[in-house]
Amino acid sequence: MTEDVKKQETADASSDKKLKTAVLTIGDQQIELPILYGTEGNPVIDIRALGKHGYFTYDPGFLATASCQSKITFIDGAKGVLLHRGYPIYELAMQTSYMEVCYLLLHKELPNREQLSEFTNQVRRHTMVHEQLSKMFLAYRRDSHPMAIMCGIAGALSAFYHTNININDPKDRESVAIRLIAKMPTLAAMSYKYSIGQPFMYPKNNLSYTGNFLYMMFANPCEEYVVNPVIEKALDRIFILHADHEQNASTSCVRFAGTTGANPFACIAAGIAALWGPAHGGANEACLRMLENIGSIDRIPEFIARAKDPKDPFRLMGFGHRVYKNYDPRAVVMKETCHEVLEELHIQNHPILDVAMELERIALSDPYFIERKLYPNVDFYSGIILNAIGIPTSMFTVIFALARTIGWITNWIEMQEDPSSKIGRPRQLYVGVPKREVPPIYRR
Ligand code: CMC
Repeated sequence: MTEDVKKQETADASSDKKLKTAVLTIGDQQIELPILYGTEGNPVIDIRALGKHGYFTYDPGFLATASCQSKITFIDGAKGVLLHRGYPIYELAMQTSYMEVCYLLLHKELPNREQLSEFTNQVRRHTMVHEQLSKMFLAYRRDSHPMAIMCGIAGALSAFYHTNININDPKDRESVAIRLIAKMPTLAAMSYKYSIGQPFMYPKNNLSYTGNFLYMMFANPCEEYVVNPVIEKALDRIFILHADHEQNASTSCVRFAGTTGANPFACIAAGIAALWGPAHGGANEACLRMLENIGSIDRIPEFIARAKDPKDPFRLMGFGHRVYKNYDPRAVVMKETCHEVLEELHIQNHPILDVAMELERIALSDPYFIERKLYPNVDFYSGIILNAIGIPTSMFTVIFALARTIGWITNWIEMQEDPSSKIGRPRQLYVGVPKREVPPIYRR
């Protein structure tokens, strides 16, 4: 018997032991519900038929609800595992580039040299944005937060690509993805340049994807700008670490908007808006501001006490995660990268890093955080790296949005291709006033 056949038999035997249905008993009614098994992760009870029996399920915040099937990313929150198309995030971050990860997410496999070069060239050809779009920036207050600009400008792309997109055509869907990957760095850098009153820099396509973004951010027409390879590599890794993360709030918003058949660029704008909040992508900006606010190691106990006080809304930014109940694997790479970057940039004393490390040490030994399984997440160290490489704090969440665009659009494509996709339309538990008659105005 070959090894493969043996493996198959073992798999069949164990799949026989898997429960096929769950039975829900309500009064004298017994409802059988199929149990679905993915390739990894928890079994999922298929409750789609429940509505027919006159019941809905109640799960605000989707604590125990799978909103879709996906083949893109897998997270095991208890073990701190994150896989993209099966590959562990640590290996991707250490051994590949952001362009390779974009290709992997979009085309399901890692590219070979030729495929990577063709893909990179494809992206390069679309880095410029329509000249008319740049005029839109003028409508924003000159000191606007770059995320406020990004919400509007990304949505405005839908005005430039609407009538000529057929979302049912796979070629058009791919071209949307390429355009988005290519144009997001340009828009992100423009939003920053506008907020500081400097001229926009056109993309320079002989640079790498990440080098080009740094150029558009930091070059100006009066001086030479040379991309620092240490910074370029670190930022590229940050892009990889943010590329996708399963059905988080912003990705779910993109998918949700997409289920209506809306323009994909408008769907991405929905994702950007959701990402901005401090409980999601906005945490990186909030985390650095918090660390700066703490300022010195001796003030940490005061902030830990505040985080633990149920009456105080303060939370330790960069700590905790809905899915990870273990160290966020992205935070592991971030922490390592943070030390590497500071060393390579010859930054010996970094008081904020000292505060971060001590805060992490104290929090991880405090029963409050241990009991609630609150560990540092991706945003805990990313702000320190971004700060060290000269990215302004207001741009942190924009960087997240730029990098997450590939995850959003890959999820949007997967949703469009899935024959079981339906318009997103949850039900509710109505707790308002029961039916009543409208009284005439003189009786109110
Ligand atoms: N600091 C102090 N307490 C916390 C924190 C925190 N950062 N996070 C959760 N808790 C407590 C919370 O008060 C609650 O305690 P209790 O049971 O006594 O009421 C318990 O832990 C569970 O919290 P929850 O709000 O029910 O958990 P959630 O899964 O709904 O929230 C979270 C997840 C990420 C929104 C939350 O941990 C948080 O607000 N963290 C800070 C913001 C942050 O760093 N966000 C970035 C997430 S990673 C990047 C991304 O993918 O977007």
